Amino acid sequence: MPPRIRDINRPKSSSLRPLRAIISYIRPYLGTLILAMCSLLLASGAFLSLPVAVRYVIDFGFSAENAVTVDRYFYCFLVVALMFGVFSAARTYFVSWLGERVVADLRDSVYKHVIRMDLAFFEVTKTGEVLSRLTTDTTLIQSISGVGLSIILRSSIQFIGALVLLAITNVRLMGYIVVMVPAVLVPILVIGRWVRSLSRDTQDRIADASGLAGETLNAIQTVQAFTAEDMESRRFGEMVRLCFETAVRRVRARALFSAVATTGLFTALIVVLWIGARAVLAGEITGGELGQFVLYAMFVAMSAASLSEVWGELQRAAGAMERLLELLNAEPVIKTPENPIVLPDTRDGRICFEKVSFNYPSRPETLAMKDFDLEISPGEKIAFVGPSGAGKSTTFQLLLRFYDPQAGRIFVDGIDISRARPEGVRARIGIVPQETVIFGASARENIRFGRPGATDAEIENAARAAAADLFIQQLPKGYDSFLGERGTRLSGGQKQRIAIARAILKDPSILLLDEATSSLDAESERLVQEALEYLEKGRTTIVIAHRLATVLKADRIVVMDEGRIIDVGCHQELVRRDPLYARLAELQFGEVAEKHS
Ligand SMILES: Nc1ncnc2c1ncn2[C@@H]1O[C@H](COP(=O)(O)OP(=O)(O)O)[C@@H](O)[C@H]1O
Ligand SMILES: [Mg+2]
Repeated sequence: MPPRIRDINRPKSSSLRPLRAIISYIRPYLGTLILAMCSLLLASGAFLSLPVAVRYVIDFGFSAENAVTVDRYFYCFLVVALMFGVFSAARTYFVSWLGERVVADLRDSVYKHVIRMDLAFFEVTKTGEVLSRLTTDTTLIQSISGVGLSIILRSSIQFIGALVLLAITNVRLMGYIVVMVPAVLVPILVIGRWVRSLSRDTQDRIADASGLAGETLNAIQTVQAFTAEDMESRRFGEMVRLCFETAVRRVRARALFSAVATTGLFTALIVVLWIGARAVLAGEITGGELGQFVLYAMFVAMSAASLSEVWGELQRAAGAMERLLELLNAEPVIKTPENPIVLPDTRDGRICFEKVSFNYPSRPETLAMKDFDLEISPGEKIAFVGPSGAGKSTTFQLLLRFYDPQAGRIFVDGIDISRARPEGVRARIGIVPQETVIFGASARENIRFGRPGATDAEIENAARAAAADLFIQQLPKGYDSFLGERGTRLSGGQKQRIAIARAILKDPSILLLDEATSSLDAESERLVQEALEYLEKGRTTIVIAHRLATVLKADRIVVMDEGRIIDVGCHQELVRRDPLYARLAELQFGEVAEKHS
């Protein structure tokens, strides 16, 4: 079994190792990274030299004999401030650019990977989960690889730089700071973590409430029909109350946090000033040095605080990255073999099932196909008939190689499809499903789905052949009309004709039709049948039949039950000799069947 995504809510590991994967996403943009680093170093340098400038201004600026000296100090001051501004801006720009770029690339590669996963993967992975990873998790990475990275680098440099400069300014005073910083920071960190976990709780409660509201609003007709508005309002009100209570707990924690942080920092600052003031009085240091010292002490505290804040985010980003890596590392079972065999150019449309047995990965105990043996010649028309659950649709799934059978082989044009590229096999097969999928795009784009490179003229030809041209032209904007989510603006017959146009455009040598069970009105039915007749001409066709007309046209009818072939023959023979077929014919094809038998 390949790795599977089991639980998105698994406890997040506190290891930061997954973040190493980001490196390979940053590597292509080394130039930008270097620019970001240079601006970072220059900005930090300017920032760290500000206190020195302050000291000179205090110590010499005010006592200088002439205004020219004062001016010179302040010019220096201005230049340093200007440098700080310019390089900070450059740093922000380059670092944020990197963050956005990395996330864009990450999203791209996750999507590219996921869209190629096999059906077995999607059976165990919810689409919502994949979507949430693509959006929420990548956003977490974005904040850390952009702004977060910038804060980490800047604060680390400033923390170390300020400590070193403190030591240079006055070693004894720095000793006090080294003792004081943890005394102030530890309580701040502890309360900070508590606040964060409460914020997460609040987010969860809000998600619960909106989940409930979404569910109810989606089923609004049912809710109102059962006059369940009061009950639903109460349920939602309960959720909102929980949200509020959790939020208040967070707000209290937040207030405590502010109180502790502010008092702690100011107390520390005052103590440093106090000790410093006595040192100035004792003549150990100058006033300017004290000013410089206090500023550096503040820098140390500030950078330590932002580092501790980013730490939590780093952990969240590591968790997000871990989940994304799980997606990226998931391997499809169905993939191109090492040395794929190329299908012959002749495109005969020959199909052969050789003793195929298959069970779906999620149903290991029941076989969906058992010893399925069937040979289909080029251009032949085969109808599959059988009760629901007989395995008819499963044969299509295996032909398209969405799954590999556990036993037996399937050949297309003489090649075992498990040894060919899946794309190569699928390129020869056209499918008209029971339910046509219409994408939220124009009519033209919906048909172009059959062959992405097709020209507009080819699309219109296909539509004409599929008897879809007329109704498309009558749409408000013709071929450019938006067909709406899931094609709600089209009737059943119209959707089917779009599907047929797609298949015509694809021009496959093998055609798989799953006849719609819901009946169309006579006119639509006639149009669909005509379109299908055109489409089937000269192609090997397998149709899962629900209509008498279809089985009568077939060269052979295959009767299936419980994954097995029960009988093969033509309608007249089968009705006479096969009790299962006779019953199905009676049920599905109704009285008309009897007339023909
Ligand atoms: N994706 C799936 N996962 C597990 N079992 C499936 C899946 N699709 C179909 N089955 C099961 O396989 C059997 C054959 O299904 P199917 O080929 O869809 O039947 P038919 O098209 O003849 O009605 C049924 O028992 C069905 O429940
Ligand atoms: Mg089916």
